[in-house]
Amino acid sequence: MTQERLYLYPIWIRFWHLVNALLCLLLIITGISMQFSAPAVALVRFDTAVAIHNIAGIILTINYVIFFIGNLFTYNGKQYQIEYRDLTKRLMAQGKYYAFGIFKGEQPPFPITRDNKFNPLQRFSYVFIMYLFVPVVFISGWALLYPETIPTTILGTSGLHLTDLFHILSGFIISFFMVIHIYFCTIGKNPGANFKSILNGYHEPH
Ligand code: HEM
Repeated sequence: MTQERLYLYPIWIRFWHLVNALLCLLLIITGISMQFSAPAVALVRFDTAVAIHNIAGIILTINYVIFFIGNLFTYNGKQYQIEYRDLTKRLMAQGKYYAFGIFKGEQPPFPITRDNKFNPLQRFSYVFIMYLFVPVVFISGWALLYPETIPTTILGTSGLHLTDLFHILSGFIISFFMVIHIYFCTIGKNPGANFKSILNGYHEPH
C-alpha cells in the first residue's frame, strides 16, 4: 500500500511529549527509589529523590497545562474524542490484530489517517491515561506536597493514606502504561519509525 507521508505530530505536542516522557522517567526512578530502597543502600539518596520528585512533579503539572490547552484549542483534541458506536467491536478488532493478524502479515484494521492517527486501542488508552490517571497523579502529588490541605478522615479512613494510595496506584498504572506504550510504538514501518515520528512530526506509511 503506498500512502503519503502524514504530518501528525505538531511541534507543541512533540515538545510536550518529550518533556512529559523525560519527567515520567525521572518520577518513576525517584518514586521507586523512595518506595522500595532502604535508606542505607538507596537507589537515589532519599533527600535527593524527594527534591527531584517534587520539582519534576511541578514541571509535569505545568507541562500538562500545555497538553490540555493545546488539545482544547487545536485539531489534535479531536483525536482524543472517543467514538462510542461499536466501540467494543473496534477494540476487539484491534486487539485481535495485535494478538494474531500482525504475526500473519495482515493489514491493520484501522489504517492511520490525518483524522484518525490513533487506532481504537491507542485512542482509548491515551484518553484514560491523559484525562484520568495523569491528573490523579499530579493532583494527589500536590496534596501530598501540602498535606495540611488533606482532610484528616475521608469516608472513615485516613485522608493522607487514601491520597497516598491514589498517588501510588495511578503512578504504577502510568508506569505500566509506559512499558506497554513503548512496546506498541515499535510496531511501525520498522521498529524505530514511530520514535522518529514523535521527534520529527511525520508518520512514515507501511
Ligand atoms: C520514554 C518514554 C516514551 C516513549 C519512548 C514514547 C514514545 C511515543 C511515540 C513513538 C509516540 C508516537 C506514536 C503514537 O502516537 O502512538 C507517542 C505518542 C504519545 N505518547 Fe508516548 N512515549 C513515552 C512516554 C509517554 C508517557 C509517559 C506518556 C503519558 C503519560 C505518553 C503519552 C503519549 C501520548 C498521549 C501520545 C500521543 C500524542 C499525540 O499525538 O497527541 N508517552 N509516544
